[in-house]
Amino acid sequence: MMQLIDGKATATAIKAEIAEEVRQIVANGGKQPHLAAVLVGHDGGSETYVKNKVIACEQCGFKSTLIRFEENVTEAELLACVDKLNKDEDVDGFIVQLPLPKHIDEQKIVEAVDYRKDVDGFHPINVGRMAIGLPCFISATPLGIITLLQRYGIPTSGKKCVVLGRSNIVGKPMAQLMLQKQYGDATVTVCHSHSPSLKDDCREADIIIAAIGRPNFVTADMVKEGAVVIDVGTTRVEDPTHKGGFRLNGDVKFDEVAPKCSFITPVPGGVGPMTICSLMKNTLSAGKKEFY
Ligand code: GUN
Repeated sequence: MMQLIDGKATATAIKAEIAEEVRQIVANGGKQPHLAAVLVGHDGGSETYVKNKVIACEQCGFKSTLIRFEENVTEAELLACVDKLNKDEDVDGFIVQLPLPKHIDEQKIVEAVDYRKDVDGFHPINVGRMAIGLPCFISATPLGIITLLQRYGIPTSGKKCVVLGRSNIVGKPMAQLMLQKQYGDATVTVCHSHSPSLKDDCREADIIIAAIGRPNFVTADMVKEGAVVIDVGTTRVEDPTHKGGFRLNGDVKFDEVAPKCSFITPVPGGVGPMTICSLMKNTLSAGKKEFY
């Protein structure tokens, strides 16, 4: 029987656990964790993500600060903001919402963030430490997916896992975590738009993690009976029947794939809420100085 993985309910439960821990920290005279978010411009997706992060902070009992810049902000202004947040002793962690406008060197901004406050886990120090299994901030989406697999008791050790996509914030860290003994302990294949054997690799997979950003890319003929399918896709497609005039479309053709699966995540309500909840977990870790 196919089981739907409820990311929304799991995230709600974890946020409640975090809020309880924050209550205890504060009751013992500790400091409320504080997350800052930097948002440049008015991209609809980024606006929504940042708004949801601020709401999640309230649910977890965190302090949050939103810093906004117009689209025409200079790289120097943004670097000055990052420097200020690095030095602000009240701020435990912060994120700069991506993507940034083209005239700004994104990598330069990512590397300017103090790795000890890099709750996105994007800084090369955190990426490198993650890759060799050292304590660090782990990119929120891959961490959320690992948490879902664990909470649903889905076995991963020795399983064949195909990761579709090789982005720095999802595909690559996801493959690393699934490979590592303490997280996935799986046999991992990473496929992307130029992989000739992608369909065959998927057909052999026990676990497929789709993060290529192409709506309905994974079809029923690519999925083995009983496979676990995790859909990271969040392409915004126009849909006048939905709130705001658009809906989120996953990378998986859900209706035809779901009946073949042992477990599958929906879009929305699967990976998305877990990403935000993992950012909250990282912020709590930052507040507790758990890694650095
Ligand atoms: N853009 C898309 N996903 C993310 C994320 O997890 N963090 C940040 N900062 N920007 C993003």
